[in-house]
Amino acid sequence: MKIPALKGPRVILRPLKVKDAENYVRWFSDKEVMKYFNQDVWQISLEKEKTAIRKMQRNKDSVNWAIEIGGKHIGGTGLKLDKKNKVAAWGIIIGEKDHWGKGYAVEIINLCADYFFKKLKGERFELNVEMGNKKALKAYKKAGFKLEGVVRNYGYNKLLKRKISYGIMSILKDEYKK
Ligand SMILES: CC(C)(COP(=O)(O)OP(=O)(O)OC[C@H]1O[C@@H](n2cnc3c(N)ncnc32)[C@H](O)[C@@H]1OP(=O)(O)O)[C@@H](O)C(=O)NCCC(=O)NCCS
Repeated sequence: MKIPALKGPRVILRPLKVKDAENYVRWFSDKEVMKYFNQDVWQISLEKEKTAIRKMQRNKDSVNWAIEIGGKHIGGTGLKLDKKNKVAAWGIIIGEKDHWGKGYAVEIINLCADYFFKKLKGERFELNVEMGNKKALKAYKKAGFKLEGVVRNYGYNKLLKRKISYGIMSILKDEYKK
C-alpha cells in the first residue's frame, strides 16, 4: 500500500524513512517520553531500529508516518490494520517534549481518522491508553474518542512504580462527522 503524506494546518505526516531511526532511538531511551508505555525505556540499537523501520515499510497491515512540524521530525504515529474487520489501532509518540501541549495530537488524530474513514473505508478507529496519562486522555476525548472501558491492574510499570490500567477508546464510523 502506498502511504500518502497527510497535511494539516501545522502538522505534516510523511512516510517513515530509515534515517528517522536515530530520533526514535533517542526518544525510546527517554523515561519521561516512555513512562506510560508498559515497559521500561527501550534500549534499542540504531541498527535494530533501522531494521524495524524497514520491516514496517514492508508491512501491508500497518501504516506508519513521521510527524513533522516546520520541517522538524518530532514524533511518529500510525495505524495497525485489521482489514477483515475494518478496524485500525492508532498510536502516537511525540518524542520532542518541547512540542507537547500545543494541540498537535488533536490535529494528528484528525488527519489519521480522516484517512482511515474516508480512504480506507474503516469502521472502527481505536486505541489503548494508560489511565494515568491525563494529557493523552484529554487530547483523545477532545478529538472525539469515547472511553469504552478500563482494563484494570494489567501488569506493573517500573517507571511509574505502580500497577497500571488501560482505557480502551474508539471512534466509530457513524460517529465520525467530518
Ligand atoms: C500524549 C501526547 C500524544 C499528547 O500530545 P499533545 O500534542 O501534547 O496533546 P495536546 O496538546 O493535543 O493535548 C493535551 C491536552 O492535555 C492538557 N494537559 C496537559 N497536561 C495535563 C495534565 N497533566 N493533566 C490533564 N491535562 C493535561 C493540555 O492542556 C491539552 O488540553 P487543551 O488542549 O484543552 O489545553 C504526547 O504528549 C506524547 O506523545 N507523549 C509521549 C508518548 C505518549 O504518552 N504517547 C501516548 C501513548 S497512548
